[in-house]
Amino acid sequence: MTQISKQEYEIFRDFLESACGIVLGENKHYLVTSRLNKLTHEFSYPDLGAMLTELKKNKNNKLKQRVVDAMTTNETMWFRDKYPFEMLQQIMLPELAKNRIKPIRIWSAACSSGQESYSISMTSSEFQMKNPGVLKTAVEIVATDISPSMLKMAKDAKYDKLSINRGLTEERRKRFFKEEENQWVANADICKRVRFTELNLTGSYALLGKFDIIFCRNVLIYFSSELKTDILVRMAKTLNPRGFILLGGSESPTGYCDAFDMVRTPLGVLYRLREGWRG
Ligand SMILES: C[S@@+](CC[C@H](N)C(=O)[O-])C[C@H]1O[C@@H](n2cnc3c(N)ncnc32)[C@H](O)[C@@H]1O
Repeated sequence: MTQISKQEYEIFRDFLESACGIVLGENKHYLVTSRLNKLTHEFSYPDLGAMLTELKKNKNNKLKQRVVDAMTTNETMWFRDKYPFEMLQQIMLPELAKNRIKPIRIWSAACSSGQESYSISMTSSEFQMKNPGVLKTAVEIVATDISPSMLKMAKDAKYDKLSINRGLTEERRKRFFKEEENQWVANADICKRVRFTELNLTGSYALLGKFDIIFCRNVLIYFSSELKTDILVRMAKTLNPRGFILLGGSESPTGYCDAFDMVRTPLGVLYRLREGWRG
């Protein structure tokens, strides 16, 4: 395996940050080397240096996409951390359902292989079952990620034994999935609310429309402070008045963006768009 040199590593760090916002730490040489060496073979470059030279030219979109794909962390699970979905069920959906005419719109902003987006959909379905007639409109979930391979898995909605068991109760598995040749396939009821689309969070959100809730969980941690601010401010602008944003357990808007009020609930902390915030 060709080791990445110090200089190549610096060039690669700059490339990755400008391509997708991910800031690599000082000590990720081994990780970068092992992931990039695989691509050197896949794209038939003589060595890592040749592939990095090509990347620097910024002309080969397919290569760029595969490199970003290889460097993202896609770790996810069903109902991750539980409390965001309990707050959705017990706090946000009951409030949004009141006097509602337009669909409730939710953005799952770094959806990985779909577990977060389908967990939102399952929660919506359970809310409707437990509170018949309360929610008179549809729930629409727009699920986005930068990774085409993750989006494909998410759209296919087929999960192997290992991934289906991570965070999903047997009861939910039986209710929302059916088994087909050692895979569990999400049923039409949970798929119908979710639309997957590729989106780099560093790019424009103009085509997404407005949302009532944004799940932006476990992705901001990879970005610089400036990019966290930029993303949170632009997300605030896509929220309807008093809309909600849910971040990962180790993420917070504090110090990056003043658009949100922190709301402490018995179930956990959530943030909502501050009244009168103009951006
Ligand atoms: C650790 S996963 C989090 C998945 C899910 N939100 C959760 O909490 O379980 C991070 C996801 O962010 C995506 N990602 C990384 N950089 C991105 C960017 N610039 N734009 C959009 N998605 C990005 C990755 O592809 C990956 O699927």
